[in-house]
Amino acid sequence: MADLSTTYMGIALKNPVMVAACALSSKVDNIIRAEEAGAGALVIRSLFEEQIRHEIGDLDEALSQGSDSYAEALSYFPAISHGEAKEHLFWVERTRAATKMPLIGSLNAVSPGSWIKYAKQLADTGVDGLELNYYTVEADIERDGVAAEQQMLDIVASVRAEVELPIAVKISPFYTSVGNVIRKIEDAGANGVVMFNRFLQPEIDPDKETVLHEMTYSTSAEMRVPLRWIGLLYGQLSLDMAANTGIMESRDVVKALLAGATVTQVASTLFRNGIGHLTSLVDGLSAWMDAKGYASVEDFRGKLSQQGFEGDPVMFERAQYLDFLMSRQRWVKA
Ligand SMILES: Cc1cc2nc3c(=O)[nH]c(=O)nc-3n(C[C@H](O)[C@H](O)[C@H](O)COP(=O)(O)O)c2cc1C
Repeated sequence: MADLSTTYMGIALKNPVMVAACALSSKVDNIIRAEEAGAGALVIRSLFEEQIRHEIGDLDEALSQGSDSYAEALSYFPAISHGEAKEHLFWVERTRAATKMPLIGSLNAVSPGSWIKYAKQLADTGVDGLELNYYTVEADIERDGVAAEQQMLDIVASVRAEVELPIAVKISPFYTSVGNVIRKIEDAGANGVVMFNRFLQPEIDPDKETVLHEMTYSTSAEMRVPLRWIGLLYGQLSLDMAANTGIMESRDVVKALLAGATVTQVASTLFRNGIGHLTSLVDGLSAWMDAKGYASVEDFRGKLSQQGFEGDPVMFERAQYLDFLMSRQRWVKA
């Protein structure tokens, strides 16, 4: 039987299927079930500073700092009514005590000082690594991309300076030069990058003439974005890449690894199919490796990255785009 074990940011995992940060980890029972179902590791839902600040009556100040993630924080955790970080930290400690699998603590803070403060507090809970959930919508039209990126890089560097644990940065794909940003994240001292965060986009109800913040789960079509960028970057960077968004089935796990992902992270598919679906993700990966004759994950990781792919290396860029446009053009004319 194939050996599924791997290493993510120096942390030993029995397989590359991780539970992404999400509301599933709000219950210890769920976390234990995820471990029993075979998860390689789990990212505990984020500590959202804005939520804490809202609860202590400080929301206006949080929102005035250019970040727009509070609505999302509420959508993720509508039921939570407690305040202060203490409870979250206590929760992470309880989770640590209840499970043996590797755990990653996740943080979304607002001010540079609080990124450091909460990262240190999370690091003290006994987690194996940290994920900086850089979830921000740049809504200020006076702020340019360089300033926005620099702020993130400064935060990564400052947390790196204070915390010894491995650090991953979870970013969105909405950068002009995604690869360059990730390279700078590596330079700032991160050990991993989670590709990519999935923003909840606003919806408009034309009948009620109102704007909605609806929680929707991802679809497998959304996986193409991380697949492209992981495939493009594999072999060019030394940090680990966690594929995230749109991974639904074991075939998707295989695709991410073929593109060059170190690990995969899943959330939506567990809400749709139940926590037990982790078993089919892991077993499906194992069956595929057996059928292909791969003894370990290293044997095929990155095989279909831009560097590993034996076909046309521009497949990850825009060659298919032109083919697609030309074929559609012919179809429309006919
Ligand atoms: C209900 C729910 C809660 C989530 N909470 C968090 C969170 O606390 N922190 C975070 O970084 N991402 C959070 N996410 C985003 C997921 O970690 C993941 O990035 C996203 O759902 C894309 O992965 P998927 O396609 O497997 O769902 C949440 C997602 C869902 C569905």
